[in-house]
Amino acid sequence: MLISFEGIDGCGKSTQARLLADNLRAQGRNVLLTREPGGSPGAEEIRRLLVEGAGERWSPETECLLFTAARRDHLERSIRPALAAGQVVVTDRFADSTRVYQGAARGDLRPMVDRLHDMMIGTEPDRTFVIDIAPETGLARGVARGGAEDRFESLGLGFQERLAAGFRALAAEYPDRVRLIDGSGSPDQVADRVMAAL
Ligand code: TYD
Repeated sequence: MLISFEGIDGCGKSTQARLLADNLRAQGRNVLLTREPGGSPGAEEIRRLLVEGAGERWSPETECLLFTAARRDHLERSIRPALAAGQVVVTDRFADSTRVYQGAARGDLRPMVDRLHDMMIGTEPDRTFVIDIAPETGLARGVARGGAEDRFESLGLGFQERLAAGFRALAAEYPDRVRLIDGSGSPDQVADRVMAAL
């Protein structure tokens, strides 16, 4: 299985991806825990181009191409080999992030995002968990964390609100695949909700 975690910046999905991987390993499963942008050596190099620097560093079109290039490398070098070896793959973000983030930056880009996805990726996760929290909460956590990887957080609250709405809309667009998980409460409480949904 390929399982993805999605949500706005600071929603706690990275913690939840790790907890799910721990829970599945405790059940005796062989798990690859990975992330985007990144997850393979080449994609991690592309990641630095995407998450560091000024908010307006790339045009929205260039950004879509870079995310798609990183995802293609991640798929070729990490995800497909792991699935072929019988591993469960848990990824912190996948194609829904491009649909929502690049779609929130410029709504008219969604058709281009979809065409690039069909041409270059063509794979959907078996299950996707969107960790749902209030945008103010996510932004406060992201800013508190600090560091150089703040390019998307630096785009502000209005952007985070459009993202949150975009992720909720995905659950309606892909009802068989995408589950909204209430992200409030302790990490263990949220992890229990994820296991129950899975
Ligand atoms: P991530 O490492 O998940 O950051 P965080 O842990 O803060 O959520 O992702 C880095 C940033 O890249 C994040 O702001 C979301 C953005 N992003 C996109 O805009 N499009 C994409 O396709 C992906 C995978 C990420």
